[in-house]
Amino acid sequence: MKHTKVKDLLNSTNTIDEVSVKGWVRTFRNNQFIALNDGSVIHNIQCVVDFENTPEETLKRITTGAAVAIKGSLVESQGKGQKYEIKVSQVEILGDSDAEKFPMQPKKHSLEFLRENAHLRTRTNLFGAIMRVRSVLSFAIHQYFQEKGFVYVNTPIITGSDAEGAGEMFKVTALPFDNTPRTEEGKVDYKEDFFGKETNLTVSGQLEAETYAMSLGQVYTFGPTFRAENSNTSRHLAEFWMVEPEVAFNDLDANMDLAEDFIQYVIKYAMERCEDDLKFLDERLAAEEKQKPQNERSGMGLLEKLQFVLENNFKRVSYTEAIDILKNSKPNKNKKFNYIIEEWGADLQSEHERYLVEKHFKSPVILFDYPAKIKAFYMRLNDDNKTVRAMDILFPGIGEIVGGSQREERLDVLQQKIAELGIDEEELWWYLDTRRFGTAVHSGFGLGFERLVLFVTGMSNIRDVIPFPRTPQNAEF
Ligand code: 4AD
Ligand code: MG
Repeated sequence: MKHTKVKDLLNSTNTIDEVSVKGWVRTFRNNQFIALNDGSVIHNIQCVVDFENTPEETLKRITTGAAVAIKGSLVESQGKGQKYEIKVSQVEILGDSDAEKFPMQPKKHSLEFLRENAHLRTRTNLFGAIMRVRSVLSFAIHQYFQEKGFVYVNTPIITGSDAEGAGEMFKVTALPFDNTPRTEEGKVDYKEDFFGKETNLTVSGQLEAETYAMSLGQVYTFGPTFRAENSNTSRHLAEFWMVEPEVAFNDLDANMDLAEDFIQYVIKYAMERCEDDLKFLDERLAAEEKQKPQNERSGMGLLEKLQFVLENNFKRVSYTEAIDILKNSKPNKNKKFNYIIEEWGADLQSEHERYLVEKHFKSPVILFDYPAKIKAFYMRLNDDNKTVRAMDILFPGIGEIVGGSQREERLDVLQQKIAELGIDEEELWWYLDTRRFGTAVHSGFGLGFERLVLFVTGMSNIRDVIPFPRTPQNAEF
């Protein structure tokens, strides 16, 4: 007999004479009630064992964490809390679990402890829910772009360029550590390396995606990106997933429209498909909030926050307007910002971004037209010669979730910028070709996938929304 998913059994509209399920024991009460979970749904199915007719030896082996195969019939449950349960006719122990040693005890564990056991944490309701939501959001991303006719492009993981020009790259090399070939000046000789040049893990697929947008029109990437930035925060990973659409003939306004529509679509998609998991996460967050002092509570529940994003336009505000707001505001009665913005041109810190989103506008915000000096080389210069057509989308509780721009399509302006920044034009010859042959206005953005998952699940540490987080000093799994 083929085994059935717990989800399908719980959603059944009728009783079933013969069923077979496989999963892991969450708890075993009174030598009779197994709470069985198979990962298909947050709920366990209750399996009622006929202990009088089950060998003592088998009963002893039904322990928290054990893998079991159960046969029986799906019957209406006498107990509260579930419509159906399984009346067990046969239990087979597939894999024992020493209940004393199994780290995932049936009690509340701290998130730190669960991080240290990232290989087992999906045996908990919380991490089951988070990772199912993550999976559905991934699918929603593809669904959105595919429905709109975008072409999915797999940009390279190993590249020779630094798309963001921030120098936060992990080197890729096949050179031996001892006996590294050196040039006459004593520098590492990358000509002798695997690719014959210096290479790194990609920080963004944007530059390659741009070349595809300039032929296929509308494209998107969705893949892992890597940043060797040593920021040990709850918002940064060294390896994260980024979604990067790039569209020919879109200007910055169209880029903002696309980003807003896209984010609303994927959130709505998850709300429709992950009802049980999101309800659980909503309740978890509400319980967390209750532990906090009154003035630190967010005031909105998770589902309310998601609904709010669906129903309200993001506020579009220029960098210059934002600076005026920040200069004239008092974030708290007594406390000033830790970092005071003295003049136009300064980069916003996360405390400013959060003030704008959470206190001033009380809504997601799209900040645009940033000073050229604080943004990457490829952004379209405005006529004022000071600002570029950049946009960052800021979300409550998250800060920056999207970074994007209209791209500089004019060859001469781009070349001048590259020269000013001391970037080697030779390295970007292929990128500049898009401006040499049939250049056109085009735009795109990058959405940090884990930051989206953070927002949708209501979690507060980015390490809890990716299966095996990579952060400074941590690549255990
Ligand atoms: O703002 P960023 O650096 O923009 C780019 O990489 C552009 N090339 C994107 C584009 O226009 N195609 O990164 C984009 C987003 C950020 O807004 C943030 O959500 C996320 O990627 N991000 C990170 N997420 C987790 N950990 C990190 N270290 C991140 N760095 C950026
Ligand atoms: Mg950014």
